[in-house]
Amino acid sequence: MSFPTEAYRGLVNPVRYKKTTTNGSGEAPLIHARARLPRRREQIALRDDHDCLQALPRRYCRADCVFSRNGTMILVTGSTGHTGRALLELLSRDGTPVRALVRDAKKAVAVIKHNVKAVIADLGVRSSLPAALEGVTTAYLMTAAHPAQVEWHGNFIEAARRAGVRHVVRHSVRGADAASNVKICRWHAESERELERSGLGWTHLRPVYNMNNLLKLSTTISTQGVFYAPMKDAPLAMVDARDVAAVAAAALTGDSHEGRAYLITGPEAIGFAEAARVLGNVLERPLRYVDVSPGLAHEGMLNLGMPAWYADDLIGFYDFYSSGAGAAVSDAVMRLTGESGHRFSAFANDYRSHFLPRG
Ligand SMILES: NC(=O)c1ccc[n+]([C@@H]2O[C@H](COP(=O)([O-])OP(=O)(O)OC[C@H]3O[C@@H](n4cnc5c(N)ncnc54)[C@H](OP(=O)(O)O)[C@@H]3O)[C@@H](O)[C@H]2O)c1
Repeated sequence: MSFPTEAYRGLVNPVRYKKTTTNGSGEAPLIHARARLPRRREQIALRDDHDCLQALPRRYCRADCVFSRNGTMILVTGSTGHTGRALLELLSRDGTPVRALVRDAKKAVAVIKHNVKAVIADLGVRSSLPAALEGVTTAYLMTAAHPAQVEWHGNFIEAARRAGVRHVVRHSVRGADAASNVKICRWHAESERELERSGLGWTHLRPVYNMNNLLKLSTTISTQGVFYAPMKDAPLAMVDARDVAAVAAAALTGDSHEGRAYLITGPEAIGFAEAARVLGNVLERPLRYVDVSPGLAHEGMLNLGMPAWYADDLIGFYDFYSSGAGAAVSDAVMRLTGESGHRFSAFANDYRSHFLPRG
């Protein structure tokens, strides 16, 4: 059997993976740190910490940040991603002063909220981190998966240690394990150990497969009423990124989470065929899930230009989850937030418009 090439188009981020170069150590390829930054001001910002403050209009800059009475200042990395955006929303309501680290100045204005200011920095550019971390007491650490992620997280952990940060809540993954077949899981395990050894307070968040990943499969859902994955029909306790954010907010603002690791899942385990039925009902049109072989899915990803390491790892995750290994439901969302978390039907309703045909 075959399936249309566009099935995985949403999984391929042309900007994130296109331009890679070595980082000077001759090891992991590193995305061109400046490739995404508007030309003049941000190049200056990444060379000169003081100018980092000038990279945005003054009202958005970290220099304007006020500190809470107990001196708490939270830095959020990954602030433009699904979890990061939801986290900023929650922290903004909570009233704690927050600084959002963004690497692309064009995205900075979108993260500014009540009590949330932005700072331009990149975890791959060490010199950009001291200014971003100045005065920070607590930090949320996440980036996208990338071959340089261990180095990026190491840069951050070292800069946080030097800046006197007290507690780092790090976004890891379910299955983080030095012996995993999946590279991303091994990389996360390595960073978890590095954080534990750093002397900083630490909390590991280990979310399972995100419901939000289905947004990346929306092309064929909206145009053909079908989505493809090598998931068999294994039950999976998919989690909504908003619930991962709620756990992160609790870990960042509560005082009993240091030295703990939390497996974060949704409140139910369902297979993709059931997910298709639920989403189809919400969309009021027939929707089918088609199980494809790992080999075909891998080929489809490579045909779209996805780097081999990433395609290999996505297939590794599907292999893991299609065996039923992601079916267990944890109580972390309920324990840390007092809420049961979003069921898939709630996610489908809230993101309905993303799965409808455009125009
Ligand atoms: N998706 C899942 O199902 C799942 C499940 C469990 C764990 N995870 C883990 O969650 C993490 C995020 O994955 P995702 O794809 O879901 O994330 P995402 O929503 O794409 O967000 C990634 C965020 O990291 C930022 N970022 C990337 N590289 C950076 C750098 N060098 N310096 C500063 N910020 C950087 C991105 O900023 P830009 O806007 O500038 O790109 C973006 O805000 C990964 O570690 C992954 O292994 C994912």
